[in-house]
Amino acid sequence: AIDCQDDVREVLYTEEQIHARIAEMAREIERDYEGREPLLIGVLKGAVMVVSDLARELRCPVKMDWMAVSSYGSGTESSGVVRIIKDLDADLTGRDVLIVEDIIDSGLTLTWLKSNLESRGPNSVEICTLLRKPSRLKSDVPVKYIGYDVPNEFVVGYGLDFDERYRHLRDVVVLKPHVYGGEEEPEPARVEVEEGAGSHEQPQL
Ligand code: PRP
Ligand code: MN
Ligand code: MG
Repeated sequence: AIDCQDDVREVLYTEEQIHARIAEMAREIERDYEGREPLLIGVLKGAVMVVSDLARELRCPVKMDWMAVSSYGSGTESSGVVRIIKDLDADLTGRDVLIVEDIIDSGLTLTWLKSNLESRGPNSVEICTLLRKPSRLKSDVPVKYIGYDVPNEFVVGYGLDFDERYRHLRDVVVLKPHVYGGEEEPEPARVEVEEGAGSHEQPQL
């Protein structure tokens, strides 16, 4: 059982499904990077869970580093103008960089990040994301490893937040609209039962 249960409309992917999918992605990555040592770059904070599970699943040498970026924009929309909050410690010269994300929404953050990292002399830069929202994409940045394409819903959990909450949930879930101030879905229509039509009778046990 998870906490925050009352805020959850539905579970989109369970912990088990996520781990199984990450294991499949790890097999692909091992094959593609055979004889090389990828540098996983986690984009803070959402990618923390994906990086930690992916790294432990990989049966090949790997290094990890972290970057924090902030995208200027109006409200929740990302604009593509990005500021580095925490830069990498690693030198990327000759490295095989694999950027790891929890979700690609507009794709604008990653488009900027990929070209920023490419300018630092790496051997290669690829992208791995657990989730992608195809209907929201505004950029055709090539993504080599994709866990799941998801509908345009308010998804949280497994690193993804709403207002910094819900990152700790083990599953990827859809929030109920009231949590983020959205429209409530209408309750199923109540059937009016006429007086005397048996509505006061208790079911026989
Ligand atoms: C979210 C998500 C991606 C980015 C995707 O991060 O984790 O990093 O937005 O948006 P885009 O494709 O439209 O650019 P957020 O900025 O919310 O920071 P967080 O990871 O700390 O939650
Ligand atoms: Mn993020
Ligand atoms: Mg966020």
